[in-house]
Amino acid sequence: MRRALFPGTFDPPTNGHVDIINRSLRIFDEVVVLISVNYRKECLLTLDERKALFNKIFKDECRVIVDSYDGLVADYAREHSISFIVRGVRNISDFSYEFEMSLNNRTLNHDLDVVFLPSGSKSLITSSSQVREISRYRGDISAFVPECVLSLMKEKNKVLD
Ligand code: COA
Repeated sequence: MRRALFPGTFDPPTNGHVDIINRSLRIFDEVVVLISVNYRKECLLTLDERKALFNKIFKDECRVIVDSYDGLVADYAREHSISFIVRGVRNISDFSYEFEMSLNNRTLNHDLDVVFLPSGSKSLITSSSQVREISRYRGDISAFVPECVLSLMKEKNKVLD
């Protein structure tokens, strides 16, 4: 069985992430969405909230597994015998960052390989931080995120007010 890891911060998950997962399911039998920790980012949503969102989005897709991990992605892959990481790439600057990260991950775990998927045209300019910002200023984020993310972001605004 071909399994892939799709790690990310996902604060919040966007339609761009959903697109990458759906397209990965055409290549792999199972995709593990791994909500990971990027220590350079301060998150709005808790790990559990992000996990619950993906579980809702993919409630009818048993080939998507959602997990969270505070550690090296390369170690998680080794512990779960997963040989591929999938990453979405929107532009050249994403690619240089992703390329560097893939080399580091492969140094940490020689059994790993990384598959880059070009982002769909609709998500080329989407980023989680911009979605958070638009939402905080009460802008309409419905074009960027699934329905359940929209509802949670509205709830978060009420708490932050
Ligand atoms: N659609 C929408 N948005 C996309 C996208 C797409 N197709 N592709 C990338 N993005 C955006 C994300 O929304 C995110 O936006 P933001 O910066 O505004 O939050 C950004 O591009 C990239 O974020 P993400 O995919 O979450 O990656 P990251 O750079 O925050 O984190 C980790 C990468 C979590 C995978 C990395 O930090 C990690 O591996 N951490 C675990 C520890 C580890 O193993 N470190 C060693 C790495 S070598």
